[in-house]
Amino acid sequence: MKKKILITGGAGFIGSHVVRRFVSKYQNYHIYNLDALTYAGNLENLKDIESENNYTFLKGDINDEALINEIFKKYKFDSIIHLAAESHVDRSISEPLLFAKTNILGTMILLNAFKNLWKDNWRDKLFYHISTDEVYGSLKETGLFTESTPYDPNSPYSASKASSDHFVRAYGETYKMPFVITNCSNNYGGFQFPEKLIPLFINNILNNKSLPVYGDGNYTRDWLYVVDHARAIDLVFHNGVNKETYNIGGFNEWKNIDLVRLMCRQLDIKLSRIVGTSEKLITFIKDRPGHDLRYAIDANKIHKDLGWEPSVTFEEGLSKTIDWYLSNKTWLENTTSGKYKDYYTSQYKS
Ligand code: NAD
Ligand code: DAU
Repeated sequence: MKKKILITGGAGFIGSHVVRRFVSKYQNYHIYNLDALTYAGNLENLKDIESENNYTFLKGDINDEALINEIFKKYKFDSIIHLAAESHVDRSISEPLLFAKTNILGTMILLNAFKNLWKDNWRDKLFYHISTDEVYGSLKETGLFTESTPYDPNSPYSASKASSDHFVRAYGETYKMPFVITNCSNNYGGFQFPEKLIPLFINNILNNKSLPVYGDGNYTRDWLYVVDHARAIDLVFHNGVNKETYNIGGFNEWKNIDLVRLMCRQLDIKLSRIVGTSEKLITFIKDRPGHDLRYAIDANKIHKDLGWEPSVTFEEGLSKTIDWYLSNKTWLENTTSGKYKDYYTSQYKS
């Protein structure tokens, strides 16, 4: 019997890398990808593996309790890797209730369906919740987020993710449901919807559009290549210890403005433009409300306990990422048409 693994949000950015990895690597698993295909979900991301016989796509909304219960009853999943979420901080500022609904209630509906399916019979079962470093709030100039840093979220997005983490832990304690949680820093790589910093700016540079840097650009993020996040998820899924949290990060902090300048330079060289051309597109605009100053992850626990570390340097990862967008212009054009444009106009109208 093949192990049945449900991956939620598998048509999104990180989810598609995780689905691809699990489908290609584990013939003894059947991977079910449950995704509502919101603006961020794109089945084009999985074209290369969609006809594999250990893969099934299920279109569905995690907020639809009746549907989720029906699907769980039908497929009897052994484990869940839960990525489905509203994931963009800026959207959470304009639509906070949607974030509470999907990220908190949607997660609870999955937890509840899993609990009702297995009751006390938890042998070889796992609920793996994918979360973010943003639950820890904002750092000043020094210090790192460790697994014991108290939660202190500042945006509706991070508050909803923090709440979902708490519910996962509560189901583990109350119903003995085996779980692990990972809190990861900013991901970048191919297949990322071009509203987040890196793909948005690559697309704008390609189209000679302005690069809207929030505030003074002196905000710091830790960046991790998405393939390295998928490798970490694979390791934690197989070797992570029940009830543990693991922080995942790239040991790679960048101020936004320095990162944007590096992107501009790499793109100028790749596009055979005079170095300095793209930097002229940088425009400082109104800051994000409640903008967290700095995120930085201490990823030593996953390194020591599970032997994980990033496989590429940031310069290599960024170069690979830019090459991916340059070779996938049709993907980029398809995702930047239609609904995305309406959102773009309302976000950057000022
Ligand atoms: P994404 O926005 O690219 O993808 C989210 C996916 O979830 C999409 O395919 C979307 O269709 C699906 N989805 C949304 N609402 C749904 C619903 N109600 N029912 C079913 N499917 C739904 O997000 P991402 O960047 O790939 O992030 C995936 C997960 O990783 C999220 O939980 C996010 O909080 C977490 N995370 C992201 C990052 C990052 O840098 N992107 C870092 C750390 C953690
Ligand atoms: O830290 C992990 C988180 O990283 C994930 O949990 C989120 O799902 C993911 O979206 C990401 O959140 P951020 O808010 O850090 O990512 P974003 O790409 O939106 O922004 C990165 C930084 O760049 C942030 O300081 C805001 C800034 N920025 C962003 C955009 C879109 C700009 O200056 N201009 C922009 O147009």
